[in-house]
Amino acid sequence: MARIVVISDPHLSPTHGFFWNNWRLVCEAANSLAPDAVIVSGDLCINGPESDAEVAFAAEALRHLEPPVYALPGNHDVGDEPPGQEDDQLIDAPRLQRWISVFGSDRFAVELGGWRAIGLNAQLLGSGLPQERDQDAWLDRELGRSSQPIMLSLHKPLFLQSPDEAETTATSINPAPRARLLDRLRDAPVRLVVSGHLHCQRDVMRDGLRHVWAPSTAFIVPVPADPAAASIVGFLSIELDDNGVRVETIEVPGLVAHDLADIKGHGRYKYLRDMPACPPPACTPSA
Ligand SMILES: [Fe+2]
Ligand SMILES: [Fe+2]
Repeated sequence: MARIVVISDPHLSPTHGFFWNNWRLVCEAANSLAPDAVIVSGDLCINGPESDAEVAFAAEALRHLEPPVYALPGNHDVGDEPPGQEDDQLIDAPRLQRWISVFGSDRFAVELGGWRAIGLNAQLLGSGLPQERDQDAWLDRELGRSSQPIMLSLHKPLFLQSPDEAETTATSINPAPRARLLDRLRDAPVRLVVSGHLHCQRDVMRDGLRHVWAPSTAFIVPVPADPAAASIVGFLSIELDDNGVRVETIEVPGLVAHDLADIKGHGRYKYLRDMPACPPPACTPSA
């Protein structure tokens, strides 16, 4: 049996430290479970697409976690896939390279508890970048060689309610790249898809595949992407073995469910990066 902790959307920053205390509490709680691995499924930063310092700070912050860590980028780290939420925050080669130069990779594949855990860079899907084709080819090789059950991790969910959703939206993978990805997954023993990005927790089956949304460790959003989802902060503990998978949501004592609208002054600031600076204590990950 292997235990994997999935932490998502911590939104760390050396200049905007709203969620630093939550991060410290989550790291302590995750370490106490002594998992075999921790997956951090994106949005480690607030303004990573524009800032070397943010990406470096996030990488340093991961040192609070004792188990092996596999970090995947989100839209707040390397930019959105097009059309995205803002024209000037789309993923491009320099933003991707900033992440790679600090974290080493934007994807992973590892064996855990008789399963294969595969992590993808969701922000590449539909980007048209050459790195998207590289990732597709890599994924095909990984899927083709695994007879073990597969857990897939990525920042954005494949869809909100249904695989055939036609709307183009920044909340999930867009229809065309989603269809291509589902096509790739169809003949592989993929059992579980775990994503972040939506800052709420949900666990549903769709077409025989289990889709789990990991909550953020930082904040909840005013209106969850699914009214049936739980608006909580916390993380996931996932047990994988020959008998299947068990998913538990861990709500850490003392964690503050920051309200995004409240932090942004109920419309006074459009984005978190626009907020006045409020560095975390001592402004270092070790504080
Ligand atoms: Fe996020
Ligand atoms: Fe995100």
